[in-house]
Amino acid sequence: MKYYHPLLLTPGPTPVPDQILHATQLPMVGHRSSDFETIAEEAFRALKPVFGSENEVMILTSSGTSSLEASMLNLANPEDDIVIIVSGAFGNRFKQIAETYYENVHIFEVEWGKAVNVPDFIDFLKSLNRDITAVFSQYCETSTAVLHPVNELGHALKDFDESIYFVVDGVSCIGAVDVDLKRDQIDVLISGSQKAIMLPPGLAFVAYNNRAKARFAEVTTPRFYLDLNKYLKSQADNSTPFTPNVALFRGVTAYAQLIEEEGLDQVVARHYAIRDGLRAALKALDLDLLVEDAYASPTVTAFVPKTKDELNFIKNELKNRFSITIAGGQGHLKGEILRIGHMGQISPFDILQVVSALEIIVSEFRNEAYIGTAITQYMEVVKAYV
Ligand SMILES: Cc1ncc(COP(=O)(O)O)c(C=O)c1O
Repeated sequence: MKYYHPLLLTPGPTPVPDQILHATQLPMVGHRSSDFETIAEEAFRALKPVFGSENEVMILTSSGTSSLEASMLNLANPEDDIVIIVSGAFGNRFKQIAETYYENVHIFEVEWGKAVNVPDFIDFLKSLNRDITAVFSQYCETSTAVLHPVNELGHALKDFDESIYFVVDGVSCIGAVDVDLKRDQIDVLISGSQKAIMLPPGLAFVAYNNRAKARFAEVTTPRFYLDLNKYLKSQADNSTPFTPNVALFRGVTAYAQLIEEEGLDQVVARHYAIRDGLRAALKALDLDLLVEDAYASPTVTAFVPKTKDELNFIKNELKNRFSITIAGGQGHLKGEILRIGHMGQISPFDILQVVSALEIIVSEFRNEAYIGTAITQYMEVVKAYV
């Protein structure tokens, strides 16, 4: 057995930086103490720039899915019409939640691997001929590695009907994209801790504008743990309605400090540079990309090996021989694609590790000479950033 540094390149969870790990391991404090109030105040405030939010961001002690569910239950009444854009496994998650609680659920299907076509979507809304309360979409659909044109979607939606609430699931890209609730016409933006925010799993985040906040107070849909009004009320006192994950709240502040040091613009630029370099590298390896360049996510890249045998060989060799963990496909793309996550504390040079391992693996599998080809393409792109 030869030694290689383990590298976690799944689209969440992501490697947790030492500074965050350290913060999460500090001695426990009581969550109804002034010690925690200080921690909570910092954490709520620290996330505002990352979400492009004027209001402090709510923090729930639960996984990302809870924020998907909370956004729906707090915006839509039981009889309301809601629309879900389904372009992959996490659009399906929204759909499943919606069908658990609501009768009037309208689904706009997008081919997996494609981005939503905004004019087609608006035509779909028109064709429904119903008063729609809210539209739900992923920002990055993690299962396909598509980044939807959320700004274009938000504007088109509000031009069509400004009363519709626009809810965006940014679980797998917030912290790696330039987002702004007002500019992008988003009412509620949700995320989770274990992706580009590079914390361990266990927190969900909800950013909202004032219109959404007012709506939360009016909606009658039954909810208890996920009643966002409870979180807002506690937040005003730098507290939480239920026992928070104190350790991860501290992690949020440590995360925000890291982002401030690097600069959020730089963080975003780093993710895009890695995306572009990796795409060039995969092309050099004759590995097809699932998503076209214009809609490729800066946080995860999906590629299509030539055969199932090649796919299994790549995934297993990366893991067993090189200690690099990447992800397979989900739903009907299981066994069809592989996904490399590249979000959080990933340096451009970390990705060289996977690119060079892929050169060896693909060369061996196909009995062709790829050594040096993908690395060269990668560096040609990334050098403009480094
Ligand atoms: C886009 C997206 N939404 C929602 C989720 C669900 O989050 P969790 O698994 O933390 O509940 C994920 C998780 O991978 C995701 O990528």
